[in-house]
Amino acid sequence: MSTPTPLDHRLRALLCTMPKAELHIHIEGSLEPELIFALARRNGVALPYASVDALRAAYAFTDLQSFLDIYYAGASVLLKEDDFHDMAWAYFQRAAADRVVHAELFFDPQTHTDRGVPFAVVIQGLARACARARAELGISSRLILCFLRHLSEEAAFATLEQALPFRQHFIGVGLDSSERGHPPEKFARVFARCRELGLLAVAHAGEEGPPAYIWNALDVLHVQRIDHGVRCLEDPALVQRLAVVGVPLTVCPLSNVKLRVFKTLADHNLPALLAAGLCATVNSDDPAYFGGYINENFVQTFAALPQLTRQHAYTLARNSFKASFAPPEDKARWMTALDAAFAARPPA
Ligand code: ADE
Ligand code: ZN
Repeated sequence: MSTPTPLDHRLRALLCTMPKAELHIHIEGSLEPELIFALARRNGVALPYASVDALRAAYAFTDLQSFLDIYYAGASVLLKEDDFHDMAWAYFQRAAADRVVHAELFFDPQTHTDRGVPFAVVIQGLARACARARAELGISSRLILCFLRHLSEEAAFATLEQALPFRQHFIGVGLDSSERGHPPEKFARVFARCRELGLLAVAHAGEEGPPAYIWNALDVLHVQRIDHGVRCLEDPALVQRLAVVGVPLTVCPLSNVKLRVFKTLADHNLPALLAAGLCATVNSDDPAYFGGYINENFVQTFAALPQLTRQHAYTLARNSFKASFAPPEDKARWMTALDAAFAARPPA
């Protein structure tokens, strides 16, 4: 195996200091083993692992399902409003260090309500952390409620009902969990109802699932963005559609390698997605499980793929703002800050 050339230190500095938005982060996937153990102690929850190191050692995944089994088990320590607040606050502090100025957080209410935790406890804890991130870190954020696609349409409708009294706290809905065998059209009626309610929509598609799932996320669920979407390159007509309409893809390179969508980062198709004119962005997915937050995703991906340049870094950061659900005036301000960050670090 050839040794990768080290990432140019100026490009690394630019990647780490440029302002950016994170659009694909499952907040439960930011739960670090140390916090899992602290919350287990605080709540008197027994864990099937003797130590933080033993838990971390279990993070050897072979595919999406093998990850999800451990991810849902980790979330079992979340019981009180403060637990949800503390988890999201820890994420926001990490995000601030990575120059994230705007974050759109996925949360999985069914993972908690199915254990008897009220929906209100989940969303009020998260919303409090979002308000604190704005006040203390200057980070803008939004919440996106994800339906678990391995559960039924009926369960998704029940979750929507529970969520509606808290409508002011979330801007849209998403679709996550086990992709294969659970196509977007399973949730056609739920997403139609969400659209009537004025909610925005996104969906995981084309992570492990085929390009047909991306087509149906667009044509049946009418999503504004595709989460992952990396398998779109298998279907040239789909690439054409995504490019012409400018549908953003929230790509998560470290996740894709940990879940074996690509063998290594050097095999990742991010350069090809950009070359095809797609609005790709870089995100962390479940950073506590996949070995890094957003800057680690940028740095490791650029190090592994030397064809990615300063210009690509700019495009990816700009795409993150363009693809966000933030108001136009915020987007314009962040893009100006992005230009300033690049002007402050001219090419050699
Ligand atoms: N839930 C958390 N991370 C996920 C992923 N990468 N794909 C599907 N569902 C998820
Ligand atoms: Zn995801």
